[in-house]
Amino acid sequence: MAILVTGGAGFIGSHTCVELLDAGYDVVVYDNLSNASEKSLERVEALTGKKVKFYKGDILDRARLNEVFANEKLDSCIHFAGLKAVGESVQKPWEYYENNIAGTLTLVDVMRQNGCKNIIFSSSATVYGDPAEIPITENCPKGTCTNPYGWTKSMLEQILSDMQKADPEWNVVLLRYFNPIGAHPSGTMGENPNGIPNNLMPYITQVAVGKLPELGVFGNDYDTPDGTGVRDYIHVVDLAKGHVKALKKIEENAGLKIYNLGTGVGYSVLDIVKNFEEANDIKIPYSIKPRRAGDIATCYSDATKAKEELGWTAEYGIKEMCADSWRWQKNNPNGYED
Ligand code: NAD
Ligand code: UFG
Repeated sequence: MAILVTGGAGFIGSHTCVELLDAGYDVVVYDNLSNASEKSLERVEALTGKKVKFYKGDILDRARLNEVFANEKLDSCIHFAGLKAVGESVQKPWEYYENNIAGTLTLVDVMRQNGCKNIIFSSSATVYGDPAEIPITENCPKGTCTNPYGWTKSMLEQILSDMQKADPEWNVVLLRYFNPIGAHPSGTMGENPNGIPNNLMPYITQVAVGKLPELGVFGNDYDTPDGTGVRDYIHVVDLAKGHVKALKKIEENAGLKIYNLGTGVGYSVLDIVKNFEEANDIKIPYSIKPRRAGDIATCYSDATKAKEELGWTAEYGIKEMCADSWRWQKNNPNGYED
């Protein structure tokens, strides 16, 4: 039996493939490569010494998905495939709803028709909106999302939960990621954003490598210790390991489960700049800019539930996240295109 990994050539998916293969699972990746390179899978194979079966395909393509299920014995799906750029989702809401929601509806329909009713879904802390409590537990009510991307996550959580309620043969694990950064410690795999990065860490690494002149810090007048936004940054390898633990829950027929995957620690933008500078001995020039629309002041998790129920805790600290992000960027200034 193998695990279907949609979006498995992407940032989090490729790191999860490494952990799955190391844990002894067979892996079948399904990705349309709209935001990824197949080279990431070559790196997965080089690191693990194991094969990754790859199908190029779209989650909207029912026929192609059926072909994969006909060819492979698939037990569970880890569903990463989706569009994820917050700003772009505001410009192209239809494309986001179509890709993420219609795509997932097609995927889960094909899954159930083929008797595969186990899914781990990539959700996000964004479903909490401006969170009602800090640190955020899974009991914190879902909030108002500030963009269509966030709504796709919130709506898909609802859809998958309703399906599980109606048909208890489904096992659904919703993983709410906080802010994934870092890269594989080997320096051979990492995040590969298109164009100018939107997220903090890839922006910082591109300043460090000389592609961008300076970091703009979006607001220093938030109600936080230094006025800049506070987030719960989590190493992508820790996040990947959380998926292997979540698979164990699926194997126990756990029904519907929801977990935050974060460290439980918040760092401000300026904390990240300082830690990056110290970890890598590189100066990051920055200037304060206006707040970015839709940003909240503070977002960090209470990670107790995942610890208690999954036996999972983030192990990497912020210095390792900064060092690994930089090692990847330094070794691969143009991502997988080198
Ligand atoms: P990514 O863009 O690197 O990976 C997503 C992958 O899905 C890409 O390889 C892309 O080619 C593929 N894809 C997109 N649409 C597809 C489609 N219609 N059919 C087949 N493949 C398709 O992003 P990531 O950072 O690895 O994120 C993985 C998942 O985690 C996404 O669902 C994302 O929304 C979610 N998530 C990411 C973050 C983050 O900050 N990176 C935070 C919370 C949640
Ligand atoms: N920031 C800057 N300058 C930049 C980029 C970001 O100051 O150039 C600041 C932001 O204002 C924020 C912090 O750095 O305070 C983190 O911003 P990111 O864009 O890296 O991450 P977000 O917390 O805004 O959002 C991320 C993902 C979303 C996901 C969310 C919660 O992009 O997809 O985490 O998981 F929904």
